[in-house]
Amino acid sequence: MKAKYLNVKWQKSMRLRMDYNNMTDEFVGSKQGISAAEIRAKKDLAATAFSRVQEKRGTGMMGWTELPYNQKDVVADILATAKDIKKNFDYFVVLGIGGSALGPIAVMQALNHLHYNDLPKAKRKGPKFYVEDNVDPERMKALLDVIDVKKTMFNVITKSGSTSETMSQYLIVYDILKKELGDKAKDHIIATTSESKGNLIKLAKAEGFKTFYIPDGVGGRFSELCPVGLLPAAATGIDIKQMLAGAAFMDKLCKEKNYKKNPALMSAVLSYISMQKGKNISVMMPYADSLRYMSDWYCQLWAESLGKADDFNGNKVYAGQTPVKALGVTDQHSQVQLYREGPFDKVVTFLAVDDYRESVKIADGCKDIPDVNFLCGHTMNELIQAERVATEYALTVSQRLNRTIYLPEVNAFTVGELLYFYEMETAFCGEMLEIDTFNQPGVEAGKNATYALLGRKGYEQTKAEMESAKAKKEEFIC
Ligand code: PA5
Repeated sequence: MKAKYLNVKWQKSMRLRMDYNNMTDEFVGSKQGISAAEIRAKKDLAATAFSRVQEKRGTGMMGWTELPYNQKDVVADILATAKDIKKNFDYFVVLGIGGSALGPIAVMQALNHLHYNDLPKAKRKGPKFYVEDNVDPERMKALLDVIDVKKTMFNVITKSGSTSETMSQYLIVYDILKKELGDKAKDHIIATTSESKGNLIKLAKAEGFKTFYIPDGVGGRFSELCPVGLLPAAATGIDIKQMLAGAAFMDKLCKEKNYKKNPALMSAVLSYISMQKGKNISVMMPYADSLRYMSDWYCQLWAESLGKADDFNGNKVYAGQTPVKALGVTDQHSQVQLYREGPFDKVVTFLAVDDYRESVKIADGCKDIPDVNFLCGHTMNELIQAERVATEYALTVSQRLNRTIYLPEVNAFTVGELLYFYEMETAFCGEMLEIDTFNQPGVEAGKNATYALLGRKGYEQTKAEMESAKAKKEEFIC
């Protein structure tokens, strides 16, 4: 039987919608809002960005555009491997950082039970799942306290194959595995890395690890739809074919030339104009716990891709917009005060869900307290929707730019759409800003300084430069 997500009618019913009324001058006033004339004035810029992205598709660092289409064999291998993992392991641990960790975390949170690891085995669709995306010693120790390495599959993910954080996690874990399991240790590691460069691939070949490849044209933060994200997702029972179908569906929408009908292109135009108007902060505020880590994933994508000192021509532009994560309704009681009354420097994007996967009725009670009793008979679903609409209204009447992206449901298809939408918006926006969206020289500088501090060969010069830097003054420490 044909899978539901391949049905065209169903796909259309799952289409993401972007409502940007509240970014326009008609709704937030002419002082802050974007006028129709301002949008029209960006028609040529949008057309140029569109054709550049079309030209670059599938080439250079835009290999990620083809991921929804070119992974048939890889997906088959991932599904077979996932089946094996589910059968033989109780824990699945991702060792990675940045683009090699944030996508798997976001998708896991979005598509599995919100207390997945706490469910009894029979109710989980796979092993318990952890992502070790830091090098905090307490965190590493805590992980080792709750897993049994003999029943754990570790997925080491690093595109470059040499990131210090990931490689240190790997060294620690593989040492323990070898002590516990001897020759069988290698069967507990899957390496996801570049086929052609880096140290992990050499180690994988030498040790005999099962390996998945990150294609050359797929950078860390654009890698969720390749084995980086697909293997962890599949291992925990997520329908990765559906996720890729959602991405393909969004890709089709993003191939529309007319910028007003192309959601990612229109979104990039609005982001670009917002930046020009001094809205230097982009807040992502999902009204769904399932989408809360989408904000972390988005923050990396937006910050690392667009935060650039130089443009294509070598001019200093210091481009970018600071992404901030928030959660509805939780942050209504924390950050929204600032969003409503602080500086006019933000655009807030709400992620709304039409149909939550659960419905919870608010029980009857407090009959003598009308200020509480009014809640009775409603559902939590109604409450969260009302709070989102109310926050949207409150920001709008305070002339704060905001927009809403609606997901009809949170499922593998819509999550695939959402990931691809943001990747495309980022690519379009990078072209408009005339910057290299796909490099990260600022991150590399920090990586190199770490290598120098820890004595890596070849970084002596950096170490010398760091040592000759101005010494800190006691008087500025209190
Ligand atoms: O987007 C990127 O390329 C980076 O943020 C990387 O994901 C991050 O630095 C981790 O790199 P790697 O996957 O090479 O270990």
